[in-house]
Amino acid sequence: MPEARSQIPTVVGSRRSMLAKSFITILFILIIMIGMTILVIWLTIRPKKPFYSVRGGSIHDYSLSKDNLNATYSFFLKSYNPNTRMSIYYGKMEITILFNHETIGSGVIEPWHHPKRNATIFKLDLASRNVKLSETVSRDLKLAKSTNEVVLDMKLKGRVKIKKGVWKSRYFRMQVSCVDVVAKFSNSSKGFQGALCDVDI
Ligand SMILES: *[C@@H]1O[C@H](CO)[C@@H](O)[C@H](O)[C@H]1NC(C)=O
Ligand SMILES: *[C@@H]1O[C@H](CO)[C@@H](O)[C@H](O)[C@H]1NC(C)=O
Ligand SMILES: *[C@@H]1O[C@H](CO)[C@@H](O)[C@H](O)[C@H]1NC(C)=O
Repeated sequence: MPEARSQIPTVVGSRRSMLAKSFITILFILIIMIGMTILVIWLTIRPKKPFYSVRGGSIHDYSLSKDNLNATYSFFLKSYNPNTRMSIYYGKMEITILFNHETIGSGVIEPWHHPKRNATIFKLDLASRNVKLSETVSRDLKLAKSTNEVVLDMKLKGRVKIKKGVWKSRYFRMQVSCVDVVAKFSNSSKGFQGALCDVDI
């Protein structure tokens, strides 16, 4: 009976391969479970980026002659820290205002501390002091003045640090970019459009 003889090793062999298969399956499930646990922990403690938006821009003391610009600007900048467990420390932030990709004004926000789950609104006072404009930008700005509003971009640069309990992170570079911010050459607060900003950390 050659068939019976050959059957015995086959049964042992398949049992062995079944054992190996279930071992691999268990190992695989374990790896997935460990991975999921790490992912969940990471997602719960991961710091979320703050949100920024700009509202209500207006321009005062505007004077432009021979492509030299003087002006002051006021904007409301809203910053929201969505983290429930982490507060944020900000270093000094440099603010620039751009028109047609050319820097026309600047300002700063002094270092501050942002509590968790907090919204803080800054009234920004920025200025152009004897800023030399290119001919095109000067012409476009005069054109904008005649329509009583101008579309600007605002950029903020600074450093942030995260604090959770007694632990503090190192400083990270942060850049905030707000595009298409409408500023009016008057104090009218009607029709102010808010602009959401991109935050890069
Ligand atoms: C801007 O202000 C400076 C002094 O602060 C003055 O010398 C300059 O003439 C002004 N420019 C314009 C275009 O008003
Ligand atoms: C956010 O924090 C600032 C500064 O600590 C505080 O003045 C303000 O009331 C807080 N705002 C909210 C909505 O809690
Ligand atoms: C516009 O606002 C500025 C600063 O807030 C103020 O100095 C100025 O008098 C206001 N102008 C008018 C026409 O209300």
